[in-house]
Amino acid sequence: MYESYYGFYSKPFQLNPDPSFFFSSRGHRRAMAYLEYGLHQSEGFIVITGEVGAGKTTLVRSLLQRLDSSKVVAAHLVSTHLDADDILRLVAAAFGLPAKNVEKADLLLQIEAFLVKITASGKRALLIVDEAQNLTPRAVEELRMLSNFQLEDHALLQSFLVGQPEFRKTMQSEHMQQLRQRVLASYHLGPMDPAETRAYIEHRLGRVGWKGDPRIEPSAYDLIHAESGGLPRRINTLCDRLLLAGFLSDKHTLGAADVEAVVNEMREEQGPAATANFAGKHEGGVFFGNAAALPSVLSDPTTLARLVDAGAGFHASRLEDRIARLEQLLGAAIGLAVESSPTATNAEPRKEVR
Ligand SMILES: Nc1ncnc2c1ncn2[C@@H]1O[C@H](COP(=O)(O)OP(=O)(O)OP(=O)(O)O)[C@@H](O)[C@H]1O
Ligand SMILES: [Mg+2]
Repeated sequence: MYESYYGFYSKPFQLNPDPSFFFSSRGHRRAMAYLEYGLHQSEGFIVITGEVGAGKTTLVRSLLQRLDSSKVVAAHLVSTHLDADDILRLVAAAFGLPAKNVEKADLLLQIEAFLVKITASGKRALLIVDEAQNLTPRAVEELRMLSNFQLEDHALLQSFLVGQPEFRKTMQSEHMQQLRQRVLASYHLGPMDPAETRAYIEHRLGRVGWKGDPRIEPSAYDLIHAESGGLPRRINTLCDRLLLAGFLSDKHTLGAADVEAVVNEMREEQGPAATANFAGKHEGGVFFGNAAALPSVLSDPTTLARLVDAGAGFHASRLEDRIARLEQLLGAAIGLAVESSPTATNAEPRKEVR
């Protein structure tokens, strides 16, 4: 809606973890360096934790995009609340192996044979488990068992576990001692500082053809950082609404007062709990979904007319979330279809399963 008004090719602040928008903040760069280090070790675990919306999935997708598929066979699975047998089934499916109605012992044999084949062909197998905070301790234990597979003295599988801060608690629990011994490195992805927040915003705007319109005043950047706590998803949500507000009020310069007005409007829409979240005082939860109730600007006939002219709804971002979710479900469905395909065993896919 505001894209054409500001001359953008597309929306700069979408909520999907699109690697083509990847910005290397200090934290993201370090986290990426840990993953690359792990990749070179070809064994054990790398653990990346990070606040909700800090950019973990974007990081993983960006790594996957850069991987040389002639050297690494990677499987990316997104964990819902998985128990031990489910995780093995998902690992098998994510590597393109048949997993439906297969006994656990056979699943393990199949996975091992597949990993041996990969290693013998001079490639490496990489398993990335996203949303690892949802794994039960038994599921984590199964992953540890997989990391024991060896061909002569080479480990067959390298694993990355990526999750929200709660996963650190799982890792620290008493039963996880054996897993901890196999962790090569772990890193916590924190928020961006004010200078990085500004650079992040300008980077995303630059990706869609921003040439300085709208001009964003330094004080606006500072307030965006303060209100978002430097977390990319919160920054995106706030900036999306800020640009929308700029378009609706026909502005080409946005200052702290505009940011404040948007934040207040969002607070009114979502109530005090969301406000606390947005200010970064609490962890967890989804904050300021763009699908909030329609903003109060709708009571103004001029802005309402502009909105109607634009022909789009305020629920666009929610729709994107749904589409992203549908894509994941579709990915899982494709995984199941691949399982029942006779050629599946030979495939070397890279797919996401939820
Ligand atoms: N380094 C980055 N460069 C560009 N955009 C980013 C970056 N990190 C995060 N984002 C953006 O922030 C939003 C949230 O990112 P992402 O989904 O990767 O977070 P997450 O840490 O996986 O969140 P969750 O804890 O909910 O799984 C997305 O819109 C994503 O595009
Ligand atoms: Mg994520």
